[in-house]
Amino acid sequence: MSLKHYLQFTDLNADEYAYLFERAALIKKKFKAYEKHQPLADRTLAMIFEKASTRTRVSFEAGMYQLGGSVVHLTTGDSQLGRAEPIEDSARVISRMVDLVMIRTYEQTKIERFAEYSRVPVINGLTNEFHPCQIMADIFTFIEHRGSIRGKTVAWVGDGNNMANTWLQAAELLGFTVHVSTPGGYEVNQAVAGVSSACYQVFEDPMQACAGADLVTTDVWTSMGYEAENEARKKAFADWCVDADMMRAAKPDALFMHCLPAHRGEEVEAEVIDGPQSVVWDEAENRLHVQKALMEYLLLGRL
Ligand code: CP
Ligand code: NVA
Repeated sequence: MSLKHYLQFTDLNADEYAYLFERAALIKKKFKAYEKHQPLADRTLAMIFEKASTRTRVSFEAGMYQLGGSVVHLTTGDSQLGRAEPIEDSARVISRMVDLVMIRTYEQTKIERFAEYSRVPVINGLTNEFHPCQIMADIFTFIEHRGSIRGKTVAWVGDGNNMANTWLQAAELLGFTVHVSTPGGYEVNQAVAGVSSACYQVFEDPMQACAGADLVTTDVWTSMGYEAENEARKKAFADWCVDADMMRAAKPDALFMHCLPAHRGEEVEAEVIDGPQSVVWDEAENRLHVQKALMEYLLLGRL
């Protein structure tokens, strides 16, 4: 098999996503039935975390064990990564010892450099620019609840961050539209997402972005790595809190998603995230199932 990395959403095509969503559904069904599914017996995943995580760590670690493999967990603080060993050297060494690498880090260029020197597939577990595994889980969750996402409208309310960039990439690739509303100064960057302007529309008013949407979604006001801006962001984002009025502006059967962790009373009101339209727990669980499908695919191809 040729070496394939998953560094951004566009690293796979629509046909590959269709396969992965089907495969994730099968893997999920087996998991629920306590049926063994261990195609990655004797394979090892290295997970490198330069930022904190709950969902990404648990889903990749549990997922790899469930697939029959094992996991090595590294952080900046407890490895030579935090002591300025060049990324290229780390990549050459780690990728001689394991079969797959998952990285959560800062700049996208860091994961790209690692991938360039890696002998094994590298998966993006979140960078400043992208969070492709999360969007894969989000779209799988949408499909489970509502069917195909093609032609649908996703409202993005909040920061033009890694999640927003990845939604734009997904929209272009899978044929849906994103209605984006961010405060001034926190807009999405089309060049970073690398998309055409056809896949999204910008709205000043978050309420207008939500109008007629099939899915309303948001994320923290301050992403990891931007903590110094926290106070300024709290002021700038005050009107970008997803509330019941925004959900009422969306379609009556609209879903609400949030990649979590969430701050009730900031980017979303408790009545929305804990309300009947919210599918955030399914969304979090589905990280496990889609990433198992992804790891299997990167190592073994279509089964
Ligand atoms: N959504 C997400 O990636 O969560 P963690 O930061 O807990 O991994
Ligand atoms: N945008 C958030 C997502 C956390 C899962 C961050 O980068 O911190």
